[in-house]
Amino acid sequence: MEMTVGEVAKRASVKVSTLHFYEQKGLITSWRNQGNQRRYHREVLRRLAVIKAAQEVGLTLEEINQSLSFLPKHQAPSREQWNQMASNWHDLLAHRIRQLEALQDDLGSCIGCGCLSMKSCAIYNPKDIRAKSFEGKTMLTHPEEWSET
Ligand code: FES
Repeated sequence: MEMTVGEVAKRASVKVSTLHFYEQKGLITSWRNQGNQRRYHREVLRRLAVIKAAQEVGLTLEEINQSLSFLPKHQAPSREQWNQMASNWHDLLAHRIRQLEALQDDLGSCIGCGCLSMKSCAIYNPKDIRAKSFEGKTMLTHPEEWSET
């Protein structure tokens, strides 16, 4: 069964512009009918539900796209395909939880002063990006904070 963009937007509770954006990013697909209007397979609703849930837990569009690559675009996924996607999500969420726990551990060093210093703010500079450098210097928030590495 095919659906119009308006029907999909209404059923999925998203804006039409959001559907166009997702399509541009390769998260969903449509085709054009003879009148050059977008049409969607009903299965797009399942993909949109997955996208919304993934965004709720903080996955990036790239991560979501990778997860969805295990699902067929125009038909219901098999149990095996669904399990593959769930397994991929499990790994992504486990990684995200570890990142959040590390940030939680570091939060005591942030005094919430608004400085967002690369040197001392755990919110702005979580462990995994602390060592980023640019042309031999550690890039900090303000030029006066730049230091030789
Ligand atoms: S905002 Fe200043 S230390 Fe975090």
